[in-house]
Amino acid sequence: MSVLAIDGGRPAHPGPWPQWPPAPAPDQRALLEEVVASGAWGSTSGPLCDRFANRFAAAHGVEHGVALTNGTLALFVALQAAGIGPGDEVVVPGYTFIACATSVLLAGATPVIADVDPDHLHLSGETLEAAVGERTRAVMVVHLAGSPAPMRELTEVAAREGLVVVEDAAQAHGARYRDAPVGSLGDMGTFSFQSSKAMTAGEGGLVVSRDRELADRAWSLCNVGRERGGAWYHHATVGWNLRMTEFQAALLLPWLDRLDDEIAARERFARAFARSLDDAGVGAAVLPDPEGTTRSSHHLLMVDLGDDVDRSWAAAALAAEGVPVDLGYPALGSVEAVARHARVLPTPGLGARAERTVWLRQPMLMAAEDDAAQAGEAFARVLGDRRATGVSLQSRSR
Ligand SMILES: Cc1ncc(COP(=O)(O)O)c(C=O)c1O
Repeated sequence: MSVLAIDGGRPAHPGPWPQWPPAPAPDQRALLEEVVASGAWGSTSGPLCDRFANRFAAAHGVEHGVALTNGTLALFVALQAAGIGPGDEVVVPGYTFIACATSVLLAGATPVIADVDPDHLHLSGETLEAAVGERTRAVMVVHLAGSPAPMRELTEVAAREGLVVVEDAAQAHGARYRDAPVGSLGDMGTFSFQSSKAMTAGEGGLVVSRDRELADRAWSLCNVGRERGGAWYHHATVGWNLRMTEFQAALLLPWLDRLDDEIAARERFARAFARSLDDAGVGAAVLPDPEGTTRSSHHLLMVDLGDDVDRSWAAAALAAEGVPVDLGYPALGSVEAVARHARVLPTPGLGARAERTVWLRQPMLMAAEDDAAQAGEAFARVLGDRRATGVSLQSRSR
């Protein structure tokens, strides 16, 4: 058995991982320079934000798209466009980024923090149903880690209970469920282009919908309450300036042409990594995608470390092997700042899985299959060491 890197041995993956975002490609640089030279830097004078929003929406199976500042406000705008506000409840999954709850609070509504399915950490039909109360008006379905949520069972419950469905696809550009793109499966879909995302302009967001009226309302909310095609100082409703800039659109528009290739690269990494974990037989496994997944966009790889693993020690030992992992989200209901404004439900499904799970982040997944095999080797070495389970075994016998 080789010496672990944490004990001074050679790391399983000694080299660097790909940087993210990648250096801008020639088409992105050219378009950025065009924007700079044109002086049309904002979307009130330039064409790129609209062009990008329309092409992005079409690539996600719907007609309408509105580009805006970020994914958090995209969620807020989607909720407001659907008429969600004070007195309403919105179900959000207990395992997700905090913006899912804070966007609901910004809309003046109450988040209901629901349990998730321990198999894949998404909301399920069962956990959604259990969260619905008298005042529940909407569900925010999160396509976590690039993996589509189980939409068939979720939309069945939503239809039965009369809920608006907002798909948070901040982590799932280009993912597909039963052959349909995410963003086209609910009433509205939202995306993020923040630095860590699969397409990024540093920041940015987008709302998509097949419903013209919802999209027009979203546009108005992002454009100080104006109406599309209306007078400059006619404000039909209360709205804000939440517009994306033309610089952001110049980076994002050409990216659409390589999204498929980048997802395919991450898919190859994910397969090679999963294979090497299976071969090692150390009890760790990549969390499965929900049934019905046609294509995960592999934003993150969520890995279950197995029974009784000391996750902190394993993460430190993996980092020493050159394979840094992330411990992932805290349970959303445990975040005091939002919990005091939310209805927090028990989350046994989440408890059964989240604390034994680690993430490999997207930049790593852009590496080659050999790198994936080395990452798998690192997991095998670390989890094969008795210290990986030693601490929790001791604490159990106390
Ligand atoms: C699931 C999820 N929802 C919403 C957001 C918010 O997006 P943004 O950071 O662009 O506001 C993020 C990412 O940051 C996210 O991962």
